[in-house]
Amino acid sequence: MGIYLDNAATSFPKPIQVSEAVYNFMVNIGATSGRGAYEKAMESDRLVYETRKSIASLFKQDDLKKVIFTSNVTESLNLAIKGILKKGNHVITSSLEHNAVWRSLKTLERDIGISISKVPCDEYGYTNPDDVEKYIKENTALIIFTHASNVIGTIQPIREIGFIARRYKIPFLVDAAQTAGVYPIDVKKDNIDLLAFTGHKSLLGPMGTGGLIVNLDKDISPLKSGGTGGDSSYEYQPNYFPNRLETGTPNVGGIVGLLEAIKFIQETGIDTILNKEKEVLSYALKRLEEVEDISIYGPKDIEKIVSVITFNLKDKSAEEVAYELDQNYDIMIRAGLHCAPSAHNVIGTQKIGTARIGIGYFNEKEDIDLLVDALKKINNQN
Ligand SMILES: Cc1ncc(COP(=O)(O)O)c(C=O)c1O
Repeated sequence: MGIYLDNAATSFPKPIQVSEAVYNFMVNIGATSGRGAYEKAMESDRLVYETRKSIASLFKQDDLKKVIFTSNVTESLNLAIKGILKKGNHVITSSLEHNAVWRSLKTLERDIGISISKVPCDEYGYTNPDDVEKYIKENTALIIFTHASNVIGTIQPIREIGFIARRYKIPFLVDAAQTAGVYPIDVKKDNIDLLAFTGHKSLLGPMGTGGLIVNLDKDISPLKSGGTGGDSSYEYQPNYFPNRLETGTPNVGGIVGLLEAIKFIQETGIDTILNKEKEVLSYALKRLEEVEDISIYGPKDIEKIVSVITFNLKDKSAEEVAYELDQNYDIMIRAGLHCAPSAHNVIGTQKIGTARIGIGYFNEKEDIDLLVDALKKINNQN
């Protein structure tokens, strides 16, 4: 099966229960949710409801109706950003955003004239929360931060930033793509108004799943219009949640898989998962130093990063390294800008990109040993 070290892109493998649940749904249930009154449709409704409940419990959200299913965090972020920002609004964001945020903002800047402030950070990606306050203006309508960088792993002080946002009554949107499932997140304690997450990374669920937790009383314009399974003669999108923001037949097969994935996380314990990842991360940071002419970017403190390590070798491009690892050693990593060019501006790799490993719960120290041996051999070929 090879050594999979690209968990920051998507987690693999998934707990076996996830695939079994998807298979069982496809083979034995298969009916749509929210649109039928026969038994199988009601079973489908129940499974979607159970998943909503388990997501709400994971992120400590009280109102189940405000757990919105989407197809991934990109859709969740687009929904929040485009549903809130209006012409003339100002938005504050971090220097480490993924294109899911950055392109959405740039598009609104070009098309409807919003303005954007990017809060600077140091070379390790650390943002001083007080700096966020300096950028607040009369027309600031949204503050958006990624919880952790997908390039250098840096975890942002979201609770502190959320606290500032609350003081100014500005909605605070967090991109939890790299943390949901592996870091405890409490929308209330962490002062998060909108939490965007994806199901297929550390939540260990299938691709095509994700969501938005809405923890504020403010209208969010729907991104899409269409069928919701009820009030069909009303000619507009309903005003009540979740139907206001959930349109079209949901990905019930994926949602059912996500339910099993969250059960696995809760049974295993988020702390156990995090500690295991940190153990392998710490080992990897130490062992990678043995590779000659390696530059590792970002913080090297396992308390300050998620389990992502970004690096370059002196005499090989990131793409060559990833290609050789795959072709000659059956080790899978990612190379390039990782859809987050802003973060590369911070570490000075915007022209060359980086090689990135993403450690997951199912990785072992032996995977790192094989990676380090392979990198040493790749180096020696020069
Ligand atoms: C920080 C961050 N935001 C957004 C995304 C987009 O995730 P998805 O493709 O699941 O929408 C990713 C995925 O790489 C990410 O790491």
